[in-house]
Amino acid sequence: MHEKILILDFGSQYTQLIARKIRELNVYCEIVPFNKTKAADDKVKGVILSGSPYSVRDYNAPFPDLKDIKGRIPLLGICYGAQYLAHSSGGEVLPSESREYGRAYLNIHDIEDPLFKNVKNGTQVWMSHGDTIVNIPDNFIVTGSTSDVLNGAFRIQDEPTWGIQFHPEVYHTAEGKTILGNFVLNICGCRGEWTPESFIESTVNEIREKTAGSGKIILGLSGGVDSTVAASLLNRAVGSDLICIFVDNGLLRKNEFRKVLDSYIGMGLNVRGIDASDLFLSRLKGISEPEAKRKAIGSAFIEVFEAEALKIQGAEWLAQGTIYPDVIESVSVNGPSATIKSHHNVGGLPEKMNLKVIEPLRLLFKDEVRKVGKALNVPETILNRHPFPGPGLAIRILGDVTPDKLSILKEADDIFIENLRKHSLYDQVWQAGVILLPVQSVGVMGDERTYENAVVLRAVTSTDGMTADFAHLPHDFLGLVANEIINRVKGINRVVFDISSKPPSTIEWE
Ligand code: XMP
Repeated sequence: MHEKILILDFGSQYTQLIARKIRELNVYCEIVPFNKTKAADDKVKGVILSGSPYSVRDYNAPFPDLKDIKGRIPLLGICYGAQYLAHSSGGEVLPSESREYGRAYLNIHDIEDPLFKNVKNGTQVWMSHGDTIVNIPDNFIVTGSTSDVLNGAFRIQDEPTWGIQFHPEVYHTAEGKTILGNFVLNICGCRGEWTPESFIESTVNEIREKTAGSGKIILGLSGGVDSTVAASLLNRAVGSDLICIFVDNGLLRKNEFRKVLDSYIGMGLNVRGIDASDLFLSRLKGISEPEAKRKAIGSAFIEVFEAEALKIQGAEWLAQGTIYPDVIESVSVNGPSATIKSHHNVGGLPEKMNLKVIEPLRLLFKDEVRKVGKALNVPETILNRHPFPGPGLAIRILGDVTPDKLSILKEADDIFIENLRKHSLYDQVWQAGVILLPVQSVGVMGDERTYENAVVLRAVTSTDGMTADFAHLPHDFLGLVANEIINRVKGINRVVFDISSKPPSTIEWE
């Protein structure tokens, strides 16, 4: 494995952003909880202390044990991390009296400081803290300040430790990337060789070593980016020893199963397409409650997948498209979060089937998965596809799912999505779809009174699906889609557009 930077996480909302900025510099980094300092092994070239919602003065504030790190390898404290460094060396951190939130301009005291190499004096930085370092320990050298923050940046004399009270990882810190680059490339001496190509090469070698001579690997394809890129990577490593299973649950978009299966075949994957739509529909019959639908779909999927996998002689591995945000051990700030929706519906499969798990993308963020996919020549149509929920259209039909409702929804959804593409709006939204409401209303077509269903158009912008805003699609475009749906899809006489954001709403209606 490559050289790396370790990020000790104190629970800041920005911790993942630090990691992503460092990865953009082609340096590999990992996030671990603040107390896992043992992770600083000899591959670690430098350590970053993240920000935190805590104050160092809180009785339960997270304090790391840095004795094996501080003074030995380069260390950078950001915000809370910097305040902790000052506090733990005898400095004083108190609630700030003036505004320390938002834009500020950094007055660099020491232009020779390697952390500020090529950074303009007066550069814009982003502050976000309620505390400030009021007294700095004697052996700390103040290297930067702003009009409100006297000890904005420091380094410790005769040791490779720096602290900054602003956030270099956020967009509003104009030269944040240069500062992080100075730290990881110049100070820590990382070579910056973590690229999609180097990731592919080392992962292919690892997969071969791990699975050599030990049976076949099976993988469930969903049509989404993660499972497709995982399959493509494994295919490069083990070729036909990878057997992919793509299940048609009947809940995919119009013609999606056939189109995606053809792309998989075109990519040279050893793939079996299984039509199980009747089974899924029969399991869903009469079920209206959203979580009950998810459970029915999840268990039908396991049943179909298991039956198919059992036909494969010598299967020993189950590959999954798990990505980094799913595996980062989070620092619990407000206690474990309640389950709002159960998004993962294939848990339990490996134990049940006695298979060993292989997750080749578990270290990558979503945008990195796309870059790896591109380097592996995965078709753009798959790489740029909107996210689509595992339970598919079943959770976009409010109430019970019937073949008639499904075919109405498929037609309406297809009109919306194809128009987004035609009007070059598809890539501007994170995700879009149509929801079929169990609501009928009066309309008039020709001279006839109608009493038919309403559908909702949902389109959102987002960066990670955790928060989202409704997409501000042009009114003319919405009018055109509504018209086409009402004219062409029998059973729908009203179209509305969802203007809720997440939170407080969610992207899906169920
Ligand atoms: P919500 O509706 O919670 O959705 O705002 C966030 C993202 O997750 C997708 N989603 C699911 N994905 N199984 C999945 O694999 C599910 O049960 C599921 N429910 C929601 C949703 O489409 C959005 O991208």
